[in-house]
Amino acid sequence: MKVLITDKVAGECIEELRKFKDIKVDLKTGISEEEIISIIGGYQALIVRSATKVTKAVIDAAGELKVIGRAGAGVDNIDVNAATEKGIWVMNTPGGNSSAVAELALGMMFALARHIAKADASMKASKWEKKIFSGTELTNKTLGLLGIGNVGSIVGRKAKALGMEVLAYDPYIPAEKAAEMGFTMVTQEELYKKCDYISIHMPKTAETTGAINKDVLAKMKDGVFLINCARGGIVVEKDLLEALNNGKVKGAGVDVFEAEPPANLSLVKHPNVVATPHIGASTAEAQVNVAVMIARQVGDLLTKNIVVNTVNSIE
Ligand SMILES: NC(=O)c1ccc[n+]([C@@H]2O[C@H](COP(=O)([O-])OP(=O)(O)OC[C@H]3O[C@@H](n4cnc5c(N)ncnc54)[C@H](O)[C@@H]3O)[C@@H](O)[C@H]2O)c1
Repeated sequence: MKVLITDKVAGECIEELRKFKDIKVDLKTGISEEEIISIIGGYQALIVRSATKVTKAVIDAAGELKVIGRAGAGVDNIDVNAATEKGIWVMNTPGGNSSAVAELALGMMFALARHIAKADASMKASKWEKKIFSGTELTNKTLGLLGIGNVGSIVGRKAKALGMEVLAYDPYIPAEKAAEMGFTMVTQEELYKKCDYISIHMPKTAETTGAINKDVLAKMKDGVFLINCARGGIVVEKDLLEALNNGKVKGAGVDVFEAEPPANLSLVKHPNVVATPHIGASTAEAQVNVAVMIARQVGDLLTKNIVVNTVNSIE
């Protein structure tokens, strides 16, 4: 059986796959959609991160493909409906990179509260602007989490340890489960009204695309800090820019963008934005975790028909 890997994954992925004696692995990173279409027919599994777009055209060309494995969480680069229609499993590695993303979201909060990036840039410009970098504290502030799955729940638990009050909105998690984690489940309206920090941890879906727009930003507290380490496109960038310009949003931490890399840098260059180039999951630990997880899952499916962590259900 043959597995094609088209994105850069930690070497442990190939090492793990080779432990399955009937599996052969080809690593072909940076290849075009056309090239994938021309070779995919010879593979039983495809492993990607987020760079490869697994389009309907790719899926249509896949003759014997049994599984598409995503080394990571978000599957918005995969046409899951097309895969389901063709009877192909789509798997991800929930939890494998959650700590990494959660730590970046918290890092964004600290960076915004204490002007860390700006103060560093100022010192590197040979200045000593002690007075203008007076900040605020996270302690006793209210954090609102949009989504309390793998990442959001870690952010919330760590935020509680910092002395923050944590409110959550997640339509698919029962309030009792939120309470067990020490979070108060509220309506979206309440969350927008009460929170000093709002951190987005929901998936990008038809429902959440453009969800944080002009109307929603208007409902937030004046001077709110907004963090998006989830997916570009959940926040309408031009609306966020306007809210930063008029002071409604005091600062934003942005790891993910509508276009990556962003064609328009107005948001990135805004003085009250801390921007990072989609590095939420980019830690050594997370990359090894997701690489090993997806290799084992794909190997178990191909050789033992064991199905875990699928995001679709096929008949
Ligand atoms: N920046 C990065 O590099 C990076 C890395 C990994 C994951 N992510 C992103 O982080 C986000 C969270 O990932 P996760 O692993 O925690 O996913 P998850 O599936 O474990 O959790 C997502 C949560 O969002 C909730 N949700 C769904 N729709 C919602 C809505 N309309 N409003 C509020 N909540 C909603 C779900 O019920 C779920 O509890 C995803 O968007 C994922 O793509 C980003």
